[in-house]
Amino acid sequence: MKVINKAQGKIDAGDRLEVLPMSQHTGAEIHGVDLREPMDDSTAHAIRAALLQWKVVFFRDQELTRDEHVALGRNFGSVCPGHPTLAPRFPEHPEIVMIEKENHSDDLGANEIEHRWHNDLSYMAAPPMGSILRAVSLPPYGADTEWTNLAAAYAALSAPIRELIDGLTAVHHNVLHVVRGEPNKLAREFMATPLRARHPVVTLHPETGERQLYVNPDYTSHIVELSRQESGHLLEMLNEHLCSREFTVRFRWRPGSIAFWDNRATAHIAPADVPPGHRRVMERITLDGTSFVGPTGFESVTVDGSGAAVVGTRSP
Ligand code: SIN
Repeated sequence: MKVINKAQGKIDAGDRLEVLPMSQHTGAEIHGVDLREPMDDSTAHAIRAALLQWKVVFFRDQELTRDEHVALGRNFGSVCPGHPTLAPRFPEHPEIVMIEKENHSDDLGANEIEHRWHNDLSYMAAPPMGSILRAVSLPPYGADTEWTNLAAAYAALSAPIRELIDGLTAVHHNVLHVVRGEPNKLAREFMATPLRARHPVVTLHPETGERQLYVNPDYTSHIVELSRQESGHLLEMLNEHLCSREFTVRFRWRPGSIAFWDNRATAHIAPADVPPGHRRVMERITLDGTSFVGPTGFESVTVDGSGAAVVGTRSP
């Protein structure tokens, strides 16, 4: 299997796979693989290497069934139950979460959830290592997704800020930001069981060892070691920094598109621009991950509402 990285030359042997970087730090399209086929180890290895380098990889023209979507995930780890609080949408595929967005003009203003940059399930002590999202039904235009590279974001901070945050920890909580009206049924179900975890603010990537800025604009509630006011101001700065344009990539979905992201090393933002009268349906699977360790040795833990560690529940 040859992997040609157009920016950096050949990184593996073989003759089919091409890795085409999409921005300075983040995202690469991979060509030359049919994801419906059983995957040999060298192909899985090459895709994983591209994922670790580019943090999110994209595939085109892959018409996968649900079974094939789950089978694809198994090449890279163990596929988790779809979601810790949402009931499975497809009883025969409890690993799959359906993400549906509709824009009915008569619905506008009924309730509105502000979707911020986030990584998936960071309110768990061991969030997924990766997520694989499949386009099922797309609007004719709009509704792109964006990702940002949290290792590049950390590296770009000035040294005194890196030194400050290296020793901090933060609580992540499964609360959605309802900006108008009452939470809808799905949002209520999402938040019904409070889930909280405390993670280092800077995580060491479990595979590459890179330092990453691990705050989550959607779910990080506060930095434990600071006053609420200090925590609020620092989080505001870090949240703004982590999605600076130079760390990001924007993906235009087409029928058959697949995105596979390293959920430990990226944050992403779902689109808020499904055109009126249109519907967008995506299906996502997630791969089991591990807790994080920070530069000072703090390891992620499950916490209760007071912020205290919950004994014996380090993993979801
Ligand atoms: C997600 O937030 O996991 C899905 C992103 C999207 O719908 O584009």
